[in-house]
Amino acid sequence: MAVERTLSILKPDATRRNLTGAINAKLEEAGLRIVAQKRLHLTRGQAEAFYAVHRERGFFADLVAFMISGPVVVQVLEGENAVARNREVMGATNPANAAEGTIRRAFAESIEANSVHGSDSAENATQEVAFFFAGIEVVG
Ligand code: CMP
Repeated sequence: MAVERTLSILKPDATRRNLTGAINAKLEEAGLRIVAQKRLHLTRGQAEAFYAVHRERGFFADLVAFMISGPVVVQVLEGENAVARNREVMGATNPANAAEGTIRRAFAESIEANSVHGSDSAENATQEVAFFFAGIEVVG
């Protein structure tokens, strides 16, 4: 196993309910280190660019509207197999299918307001980290 980095976003439903610390605790308990973190209020253009891969999906407009509805916290997580590890601790996209003990099972409100985003591959992680962070901001 290799030490990897992955991008995590605590979504507006999580910041609205003051869950930043509770979610960070679950990430750290899962063995992930938060090696960069900042709170942002995304513009429409930034949210559309970040989720460009989903542009053709029926849920795209709603997803963008939701992601700009309040602040987010963007993070870089580091650890052994960080991409897969983070996806495990996040749980399934739809909280109705998320396993016991996962962040989405504990906190998500719906498939859209599902509290967290995590990169789905090492390649996407590299791109997504670079979207939000300069190298100097990531301190392992
Ligand atoms: P995320 O990991 O941030 O990537 C895309 C997001 O689209 C996903 O989490 C969901 O929150 C959101 N989304 C909304 N509706 C759907 C849907 N029907 N299927 C998949 N993702 C959806």
